[in-house]
Amino acid sequence: MLPPKIEEALNSQLNAELFSAYLYMSMAAYFESLNLTGFGNWMKVQTQEELFHAQKFFDHINARGGRVIMQAMEKPETDWESTLAVFEFTYKHEQKVTSLINDLVELARTEKDNATYNFLQWFVSEQVEEEASADAVLQKLKLVGDFGPGIFMIDQEMGQRVFTPPTAGV
Ligand code: FEO
Repeated sequence: MLPPKIEEALNSQLNAELFSAYLYMSMAAYFESLNLTGFGNWMKVQTQEELFHAQKFFDHINARGGRVIMQAMEKPETDWESTLAVFEFTYKHEQKVTSLINDLVELARTEKDNATYNFLQWFVSEQVEEEASADAVLQKLKLVGDFGPGIFMIDQEMGQRVFTPPTAGV
């Protein structure tokens, strides 16, 4: 049995994860419009990660006897000033998601929903990686600045990223 407050909050987080997928797909489109296909690939892989996160919330709500309710999706940003600006945005976005997860953990604790509390621990760890991977790219972009060959080299590297489903976890 899922406490109603938790059911509502988990449905909101499902929407937030789907929004993240939508946002990263929008970033992939931005990069591909600039022929930065490596950065586009990185964002498409990130989109898959977010869909995986969304699926985990979907399955947890159902496994606990709750009801998944799909909600309206916010329109994502579509344009940025630079590659660096995209990754500054991404890093801030992931920090915001971490704070949403922390709020959920707090709610699970106050509602004494231990199953959801345990389920969320996977996301607590995952957010450490999510912030770190966005920050790693951000730091490289800060190093190269506007130096075109540097951006080109990072683009090549970003093209190597492949989606590997994270371990199943809780
Ligand atoms: Fe679902 Fe990027 O956090």
